[in-house]
Amino acid sequence: MNAFLAEQFSLEGEVAVVTGGTGELCSAMAQGFAQAGARVALVGRDAAKAEKRLAAIRAAGAEAVFIGADVTRKAEVERVAAEAVKAFGKVTIVLNGAGTNSPTPFLEISDEEMQRILETNYKSVVFGCQVFGKLLIDQKQGGTILNITSMSAIRPLSRVFTYSATKAAVLNLTMNLAREWAPQGIRVNALSPGFFPAEQNRKILQPERVAKIMAHTPMNRFGEPRELMGPAVFLCARKAGSFVTGCHLTVDGGFSSMEFS
Ligand SMILES: NC(=O)c1ccc[n+]([C@@H]2O[C@H](COP(=O)([O-])OP(=O)(O)OC[C@H]3O[C@@H](n4cnc5c(N)ncnc54)[C@H](O)[C@@H]3O)[C@@H](O)[C@H]2O)c1
Repeated sequence: MNAFLAEQFSLEGEVAVVTGGTGELCSAMAQGFAQAGARVALVGRDAAKAEKRLAAIRAAGAEAVFIGADVTRKAEVERVAAEAVKAFGKVTIVLNGAGTNSPTPFLEISDEEMQRILETNYKSVVFGCQVFGKLLIDQKQGGTILNITSMSAIRPLSRVFTYSATKAAVLNLTMNLAREWAPQGIRVNALSPGFFPAEQNRKILQPERVAKIMAHTPMNRFGEPRELMGPAVFLCARKAGSFVTGCHLTVDGGFSSMEFS
């Protein structure tokens, strides 16, 4: 890597905690952090899936651990922070990416489903920001939080009402915390993937819906998880992202820029 790129984008010396890190998109972003030089803690519920992700990161020569936890419980998130600090001595990058989705017509949304999506997509981000925000403040070394939202936060999508509302809430929280913690040198940003076929949304990608998505995507294709690596590294790099906070970066092939015609 040339000296300019290394100075701007290197994550050498950083320690990243990635919730949802065993999933398809967040494991790619964790891989990006690792390949840019960070040590990485993947947080999730599935140790078997984690093994595959850890192997890929370690194959790239980086240090990585798995911390099993349910991030909808604050005590579990506090344990994650303690284990990450025990493993690596500090935490400097936090990616809040655990998420779930459920396509349901509005009049059929149950209280149980609403609770589950709210807890996974919003409450977990609040806990992640509370626990790691305090840690970053106490460490006095700055740092950054990257919350994974969705372009459905700003473009309502059919049948994913609760999901879209939680992602809009995460976006609002991100901007509010960017304001709150700028004086402590902590940057808080949001990254919004567009359509990336993955475990949680394959069930809603029937042919008719795919055709509609493509008609509304200027780049006329789905995203691939590796296309999130660069944007995530940029937002978390101390130099390249030094004046970027409260930002909402969409990575969606132009979906959110397209007007219906
Ligand atoms: N795939 C897409 O097209 C898309 C688009 C926009 C936003 N997103 C967002 O990106 C993030 C990752 O999504 P993905 O598509 O990779 O899905 P995924 O299902 O592959 O990954 C989500 C991960 O979160 C974990 N998780 C869920 N609940 C958890 C909990 N309570 N505690 C700990 N871990 C938990 C799951 O085990 C899984 O590993 C999510 O926040 C999702 O909403 C995805």
